[in-house]
Amino acid sequence: MLEIYKLSKSFQSGILKKQKTQAVQEVSFCIPDGKTFGIVGNSGCGKSTIARMLLSLIRPDAGEIRIDGKDILTAPKRNRQALSRKIQIIFQHPESSLDPSKKIRYSLMEPMIIHRMYDKAGREKRMRELLELVDIPETLLTHYPHQISGGEAQRIMIARALTLEPGILVLDEPTSMLDVSIQAQMMTLLKELQKKLGLSYLFISHDMDVVKWFCDEIAVMKEGTFVEQGDAEQIIKNPQHPFTKELLENFRI
Ligand SMILES: Nc1ncnc2c1ncn2[C@@H]1O[C@H](COP(=O)(O)OP(=O)(O)OP(=O)(O)O)[C@@H](O)[C@H]1O
Ligand SMILES: [Mg+2]
Repeated sequence: MLEIYKLSKSFQSGILKKQKTQAVQEVSFCIPDGKTFGIVGNSGCGKSTIARMLLSLIRPDAGEIRIDGKDILTAPKRNRQALSRKIQIIFQHPESSLDPSKKIRYSLMEPMIIHRMYDKAGREKRMRELLELVDIPETLLTHYPHQISGGEAQRIMIARALTLEPGILVLDEPTSMLDVSIQAQMMTLLKELQKKLGLSYLFISHDMDVVKWFCDEIAVMKEGTFVEQGDAEQIIKNPQHPFTKELLENFRI
């Protein structure tokens, strides 16, 4: 269970004339085990900033991030590492997340080596299990990132994120760079994995149709705040906030 409470983050920019952007303002939500929470909103409204705070890539100004009741932000350093391993991310650009100079095999092994998981044979076994889960043939292990397709790269990134056995995956527009025909396959794969492994997802997207099909609950985000949140189908069927209506209108054109 992931619980986010009143999470806020502002950025300062400009050297002489300091400008403050309130990227995220007192955002709260909760994702039960095995469920999907979606965030939709225009470019720049703060979606990726939430993702980066959950991944401990940036530190919030205020708020709480609790995994199974434990706050990552105030936990002692040793516990914090174990807790933050439970959340992994799939980025928009799979190609830029893979090291171009390393074979696929290395990209899958690396997280397990860094985190000292399993012995050599155990890592090998885990890698093959993961390949099977994401439906990638073992022959691709000896390829370099430029020798695989965008869809394959994204499957490998999913396998890589799963090596550390997370309970929560943050999916930051995971299919927006892929060909339309592959997008549906990828979303179906993510659904299957969720069922098999009991994963919780935070899904960030612009696509209302995908969100409706993929998410249990959603939040509609505008300029750093959630203007509406609740059951995905309900909100899409019967939006209350003018901004949600506007988003749905724009999408239908
Ligand atoms: N490191 C930073 N320094 C200064 N401003 C930042 C920084 N990171 C993000 N911002 C600003 O915070 C706001 C939110 O950015 P964020 O990346 O979260 O948007 P987003 O909703 O993910 O947009 P998109 O849909 O385009 O990915 C933007 O105005 C952005 O310019
Ligand atoms: Mg973003």
